[in-house]
Amino acid sequence: MLEDKVAIVTGANSGIGRAIALGLAQAGANVTIDYVVHPESAQELEEEIRHLGEKAIMVDADVSQVADLQMLVDKTIEAFGRLDIFVNNAGIETRTSLLDTTEEQFDKVMAVNLKSAFFGTQIAAQQMIKQGSDGRIINISSVHEDWPMPGNTPYCCSKGGMRMLTRTAGVELAEKGITVVGVGPGAVATPINQETMSDPDKLARLKAAIPLGRLADPAEIADLVVWLASAQAGYVTATTYFLDGGIMQGSPGL
Ligand code: BGC
Repeated sequence: MLEDKVAIVTGANSGIGRAIALGLAQAGANVTIDYVVHPESAQELEEEIRHLGEKAIMVDADVSQVADLQMLVDKTIEAFGRLDIFVNNAGIETRTSLLDTTEEQFDKVMAVNLKSAFFGTQIAAQQMIKQGSDGRIINISSVHEDWPMPGNTPYCCSKGGMRMLTRTAGVELAEKGITVVGVGPGAVATPINQETMSDPDKLARLKAAIPLGRLADPAEIADLVVWLASAQAGYVTATTYFLDGGIMQGSPGL
């Protein structure tokens, strides 16, 4: 499906990013694994991708820094000669409310989740235009680009920004043949939800809120990303696909 394509996945060494990097490689793409912590898990993923018969490189780049994003793309071009798919996946949350969030927490969430996606999209699109090809930019957002999560306000603000980045950049880049699509997962079994998953009461409450009654497996998110990166999804742009087990439509039927 993605033979000869080259992809970059930010925050690729854990959670949803890891599943996406593997999924893209399974579909035939060569992959750049971006990471900032745990080089050993990036290394493990690189080896796993090599075993699949695809090429992978790992790059230590802090995506909240524009210079690092440029370096991420430059190293990919050096290794693979082109760029077709850029996945803005790296993300963090503070689980803090409006009233208790510090300036430092706000700035960090916005820089890692939104500034990175803005400039990642810009730098990836510049490269795709330069090489004269079309391209795919996929933003890993959240149900919380549209659905409040009290107690996680900076995260919601960052994902709300990502929602409009997807729409506006999608429209701006359409004439260049570059699509920009958002993927909005609900609750996924990844390290970001570790605290909830290890507290039986919180986990029971979360599952009860999900019509399908369970968290998603990261591979279920990756499957959609692989399809969005493929030729079959050529008419999709400037919108978000939600994979949330129905959580955004949940209703007690009162
Ligand atoms: C957040 C999780 C939350 C999930 C469902 C995700 O985007 O990172 O903390 O559990 O959405 O609400």
